[in-house]
Amino acid sequence: MAPLKVSGTIRVPGDKSISHRALILSALAEGESVIRGILDSEDVGSTAGVLRALGVIIPPLAPEMRVRGVGVRGLRAPRHALDCGNSGTTTRLMAGVVAGHPFAARFEGDESLSRRPMKRVAEPLTYMGAQFVFEHGDGLPMTVHGVDLRSIDWNTRSASAQVKSAILLAGLASSVEVRVTESSRSRDHTERMLRAMGVDVETDGNQVCLRPTARLQSIEIDVPADPSSAAFFVAAAALASAGELVLTDVCLNPTRTGFIDAMERMGAQIERRVSANSGGEEIGSLRVRPARLNGVSIGAGEVASLIDELPLLACVAAGAGVELEITGAAELRVKESDRIAVVVGNLRAVGADAEELPDGLRVHGSRRKLSGTIDPHGDHRIAMAFGVLSAASGNEIVVRNPECVAVSYPRFWTDLRMVST
Ligand code: S3P
Repeated sequence: MAPLKVSGTIRVPGDKSISHRALILSALAEGESVIRGILDSEDVGSTAGVLRALGVIIPPLAPEMRVRGVGVRGLRAPRHALDCGNSGTTTRLMAGVVAGHPFAARFEGDESLSRRPMKRVAEPLTYMGAQFVFEHGDGLPMTVHGVDLRSIDWNTRSASAQVKSAILLAGLASSVEVRVTESSRSRDHTERMLRAMGVDVETDGNQVCLRPTARLQSIEIDVPADPSSAAFFVAAAALASAGELVLTDVCLNPTRTGFIDAMERMGAQIERRVSANSGGEEIGSLRVRPARLNGVSIGAGEVASLIDELPLLACVAAGAGVELEITGAAELRVKESDRIAVVVGNLRAVGADAEELPDGLRVHGSRRKLSGTIDPHGDHRIAMAFGVLSAASGNEIVVRNPECVAVSYPRFWTDLRMVST
């Protein structure tokens, strides 16, 4: 097989986390907001659908869209259940918003989402005064009965931007002060966007405090490219034998750059250049060239900054034939799939040497050719991570159910083909 060349310039689609927040906060603002470059994917579509069910007029997702807000407490009781699809971010953030409104809403999701734990948001929001009713364990369906919430000072057990954001949005909807302290710092897009919309949000290390506000100003926002989607191309270009790939307009918020940092520790050649700031987010470009990679270990303190990229990092280690150890990442077991079991099982299925740890995994590098069929268990990030491993020189991996990438990156396979020759 010819050596793989990865080259050209690519702008991956808009950031998923920022897209969810842009829709939710525009819906709760006063006046008209303009959102450019929103991610048009199934997950963001779920947030748009939930907001429509709560009485907000959200146009179809488009490169430029306008949303007329209804005010921080202006949502209406839904006439049917809120369908959150596969999206944990939609469910947890909107649970916070609904908790601060004077009505009840039933949240539903697909099979994967229905298995994911919701106690982590139910606990603090119940403490604030809302009522949660579960039908099976602490997964969906769940019904949230909103009320006038009270203030809270909450310590999260593990760093989670979804839990932190649910509490901040509950505080916003009920106009009460909320404070959240995390063990390590999770992505901070909610805080940045709220500040850009005139809310007093103070951050001190791993602690964030939102002061009561009765109104949210509208916003004009350009959604930068998603660093979690860019990561697949950073990995492909680093594993390639030739070429140079430039990724433009990428969100380089430091709470999201853990994968780039880890790749650099592995010896990857990545030039990053921050060139702009939009909606409170640093934006820039990445230039990646092939490099001989070495092993790396990832520990609890940095997990939050690359949580969604850990399956990819495991595939990079297997593709480069180097050692990887990930610990302190038990969260991976409750993502769209059990990402520890599914990554390790699939790596083994294609001939790599990998083992599960209770809170992480190990990959033992070997330079043998990898081949076979993998089952991503409907998990978009697993499908894309193995797509990159397959594209790396010499590997022949078939990804079952490849269309599951539509959750976050519908045109992934086309883009991967475009840059690899
Ligand atoms: C997200 C937060 C993270 C991440 C998810 C998106 C967000 O989840 O894994 O893909 O947009 O807030 P946790 O908050 O559960 O860590």
